[in-house]
Amino acid sequence: MSVQIGPYLLRNNVFVAPMAGVTDRPFRQLCKQLGAGYAVSEMAASNPRLWATEKSSRRTDHTGEMEPKAVQIAGADPQDLADCARFNVERGAQIIDINMGCPVKKVCNSWCGSALLQDEALVEKILHAVVGAVDVPVTLKFRTGWDRLNKNALNIARIAEDAGIAMLTLHGRTRADGYKGDAEYDTIAAVKRSVSIPVVANGDITSPEKAKYVLEQTGADAIMVGRAAQGRPWIFREIEHFLRTGSHLPAPYVDEVRALMDEHLRAHYAFYGDFLGVRTARKHIGWYVRDLAGGEEFRQKMNLLESIDAQLQAVDQFFESQWSFGERLQYRLSDDLQPA
Ligand SMILES: Cc1cc2nc3c(=O)[nH]c(=O)nc-3n(C[C@H](O)[C@H](O)[C@H](O)COP(=O)(O)O)c2cc1C
Repeated sequence: MSVQIGPYLLRNNVFVAPMAGVTDRPFRQLCKQLGAGYAVSEMAASNPRLWATEKSSRRTDHTGEMEPKAVQIAGADPQDLADCARFNVERGAQIIDINMGCPVKKVCNSWCGSALLQDEALVEKILHAVVGAVDVPVTLKFRTGWDRLNKNALNIARIAEDAGIAMLTLHGRTRADGYKGDAEYDTIAAVKRSVSIPVVANGDITSPEKAKYVLEQTGADAIMVGRAAQGRPWIFREIEHFLRTGSHLPAPYVDEVRALMDEHLRAHYAFYGDFLGVRTARKHIGWYVRDLAGGEEFRQKMNLLESIDAQLQAVDQFFESQWSFGERLQYRLSDDLQPA
């Protein structure tokens, strides 16, 4: 099944979730190449003082990215957010996503992300301001509510639809939940029933079966996968295949994973430069090897390496010493997702 956001008909309904510090351009490209139908970039700050920083310009660099190019914005001031949306559209964003889902305070120091859900009047102002500022589709990502006693996702969804929001993505937890407990899907189902715009279900999707279950439970138009894609970007084609055919793709070959990692790392270094590239690649390498025999020991040693050559060589040696090519990857799959 595919999903339409404004003029964009997406390839399928299996999306990669925006994750700050993870879904940079190289990772988004890899996920799309491996079957993700849609990706949203990491958050861009709405504070104009931050737009010129190196981090912000890296986050708004979409060179060569598969369309549609979607940029997430976060903040609490309607005018700042409207300006930020305009700024990003001028730099190539084809869809603007507003983040009201992030529980982390440092995102914008206080009143933004999912904290906004407490103030429905402000939400309404923000959504109207952003939708009115740009002529591209604007989407909203949010949580089920402020806390379990104040689940106002239905109100927010109605406000959003009335404001002209083109798609809703709902993470099945409240702000107070953080990443604790299990995501619940009943609220997502209720939101889906209450609006006529596309709804994307998010939270704790770790396998093709879970993806199918969540789609069935919620009636959502699409699912979005975050943490389970870390170190396993081929999960998108696994889910897409399972939803389409009811059968499982076999695990990837070891040499394919090695080649994918090599391609990912080289794109990562090119994007971040040598110094930052080596350091920020460590987490990705750690995720790739997490479920493999000897992975943790390797991760600890690899973290001490300081150059691109040493890092690439270590990854190569790890794969060479562990498996023979032509074999399929053997990994323990756990449902345990780490908090953000
Ligand atoms: C490291 C990390 C960074 C995240 N950054 C963002 C972000 O910038 N914007 C956002 O809307 N959600 C962010 N999230 C939330 C995810 O998009 C997603 O809603 C959440 O992880 C639940 O999905 P999952 O269970 O599939 O991981 C982040 C999550 C993680 C783990």
